[in-house]
Amino acid sequence: MSKKITVNGIEYPLDTKKTLLENLEAQAIHQEYHCRDGHCGVCRCRLIGGKVDYINYPMAYLRDGEVLTCCTKSQQDIILETY
Ligand code: FES
Repeated sequence: MSKKITVNGIEYPLDTKKTLLENLEAQAIHQEYHCRDGHCGVCRCRLIGGKVDYINYPMAYLRDGEVLTCCTKSQQDIILETY
């Protein structure tokens, strides 16, 4: 069954093979980024629902409930809010 990613209240299809950042880019959703490998923290978003898997260890500081979109994927429906 296809998964979805909800961003700022709007649903999009989720490609589980791509990172969340790549999913945002594929839907032309604006998201800042810099290093794309978990160091800078620029790509952080708030995870409102669902669970993500890190493909790189996140080196950037994260507050509770935040995720780095450049180095996470998800196999389930997720809900994000961008800053
Ligand atoms: S773009 Fe740098 S941590 Fe994601």
